[in-house]
Amino acid sequence: MPLLDVRNLSRVYVSGQQRVFALRNISFEVDSGEFMSIMGPSGSGKSTLMNVLGCLDRPTDGDYLINGRSVLELRTGELADLRGGEIGFVFQTFNLIPSLSAQSNVEVPMMYRGHPARVRRTRALEALERVGIEHRADHLPSQLSGGEQQRVALARALSTDPALILADEPTGNLDSETSKSIMQLLSRINESTGVTIIQVTHDDDMATYGERLVSLYDGEITEDEHLNHPTAADGSSEGVTV
Ligand SMILES: Nc1ncnc2c1ncn2[C@@H]1O[C@H](COP(=O)(O)OP(=O)(O)O)[C@@H](O)[C@H]1O
Ligand SMILES: [Mg+2]
Repeated sequence: MPLLDVRNLSRVYVSGQQRVFALRNISFEVDSGEFMSIMGPSGSGKSTLMNVLGCLDRPTDGDYLINGRSVLELRTGELADLRGGEIGFVFQTFNLIPSLSAQSNVEVPMMYRGHPARVRRTRALEALERVGIEHRADHLPSQLSGGEQQRVALARALSTDPALILADEPTGNLDSETSKSIMQLLSRINESTGVTIIQVTHDDDMATYGERLVSLYDGEITEDEHLNHPTAADGSSEGVTV
């Protein structure tokens, strides 16, 4: 069974007399452990798709199943549980709480889930270590570089041990060197933990870190391609991007 199953999904925005077809009858599956990139011009429906995949929004038509369960059948509380427990979000603008330290930011989703302070602390420090930034645990976001803030945001997304990470242009606000290091980190985490990652990117280079590239245009999937990574198992490291 695929982790995600998108079936003939449409999302139409209605404002006054106007109807905007943000997603038109799209279908695809995502297996557990995949690292997928979504590309497309501005307005092609990328964020709308991410919102539906993250259960922040519901389809107008069609269906969306997570682990075989249709989100249409879930009540609001069940959706919130699914979001909080199985999905981690990473944003272009990091979205850290400015008044909280890196560690406290990482603890926020665990607070919502009612974990006791000691468990939160241990897990937050583990998550910060995993993204290579445990030495900044006490720093405020304003005391961190963009790349460091995105690492904290990634630690926060990982702190509840989700099945799926959704990242909407995670390197959109970062310079190219920092972007590369964030992508390398994402693919390491994907390989070591098996967490499924779906990222939106504007950048061809960033898309190469995933193993699959879905192109959106005007609310439709125009391409869904598997990207080949020559791996160390081939005995050659030439061209390896991760
Ligand atoms: N809340 C909304 N109300 C009305 N139209 C919207 C809303 N959100 C997005 N849209 C429209 O839906 C289309 C897809 O938007 P979006 O998913 O944000 O695209 P992308 O992320 O690829 O730039 C665009 O035409 C956009 O104007
Ligand atoms: Mg967008």
